[in-house]
Amino acid sequence: MSFLTVSDLGPERVRDLVTLGLEVKRRPERYVSALAGRSIGLFFEKQSLRTWVSCDVAAVQLGAHPLAIRNDQTGMGSRETPEDVGRVLDRYLDLLAMRVFDHGDLEAIDAVVDVPVVNLLSDREHPCQAVADVMTLAENGVMNGTVAYVGDGNNVCHSLMVAVTMCGGSIRVATAPGYEPDPAIVRMAEAHGPVVVTTDPLEAVEGADAVYTDVWASMGQEEEAELRRRHFARYRVDEAMFDRAAPGAIFLHCLPAHRGDEVTHEVLEHERSRVFDQAENRLHSFKAVLLDQLG
Ligand code: CP
Ligand code: NVA
Repeated sequence: MSFLTVSDLGPERVRDLVTLGLEVKRRPERYVSALAGRSIGLFFEKQSLRTWVSCDVAAVQLGAHPLAIRNDQTGMGSRETPEDVGRVLDRYLDLLAMRVFDHGDLEAIDAVVDVPVVNLLSDREHPCQAVADVMTLAENGVMNGTVAYVGDGNNVCHSLMVAVTMCGGSIRVATAPGYEPDPAIVRMAEAHGPVVVTTDPLEAVEGADAVYTDVWASMGQEEEAELRRRHFARYRVDEAMFDRAAPGAIFLHCLPAHRGDEVTHEVLEHERSRVFDQAENRLHSFKAVLLDQLG
């Protein structure tokens, strides 16, 4: 079964993924040849550092063969249709993981292939990131706690909302007016746990166990960066804002970060910032995703 959104898996399987990610992190040696002989496609229409490298290394460490496919060399959407690309790759690979601009392309491909399709980020969701995020919350003892997400109601926010509530936590999202998360995804998250959507960053952050932010302009929105910088000026996570969270609260960011925009250098480098643990957890959690899909 494909993994295009967090909701695709349901709460039990998402929690199992987090547990498996933590287990694989503790005992990597147990899984060294778990996927021997399998071929994993990692397709990218956009830039990537963490996802590309961590997913490649995860596959290698499980004994599988990863193949990075860059769309500037393959031409999905210009040289041939997404469906035709998918149907060809389906004949070579055991799993197709893709980073795309348009979530609809993932759905169109998933409808015509037999292999599982995994979303490595679309305009709608970033579900593999959310598994690493909840793993990081679990490692810090706040998986059932309150997460404050401050910033753009984007792909990362969408997946985080559903993953956090499915794993027993609650989430408070503060966005600038007009940048709210998709109401349909808010409703999905609300079906699993408490959700607050507000335009007041302090209402979100007050007493929270974790404060999370992401870039104000996502990949593909570069032309809006200046406008968004103005609209989001009140939503920068600085020390004064972070101090309003619970004592001991952690700071999270999926990275890459724009220091001075959505987060100050001081908060990113704070002793309670866990952003590099979170980045490391992309490796372990993607192993869990591969084992869940193919193991
Ligand atoms: N967090 C994340 O997905 O990073 P990359 O865009 O570098 O893969
Ligand atoms: N929201 C960001 C996340 C990058 C990992 C983007 O889509 O560019």
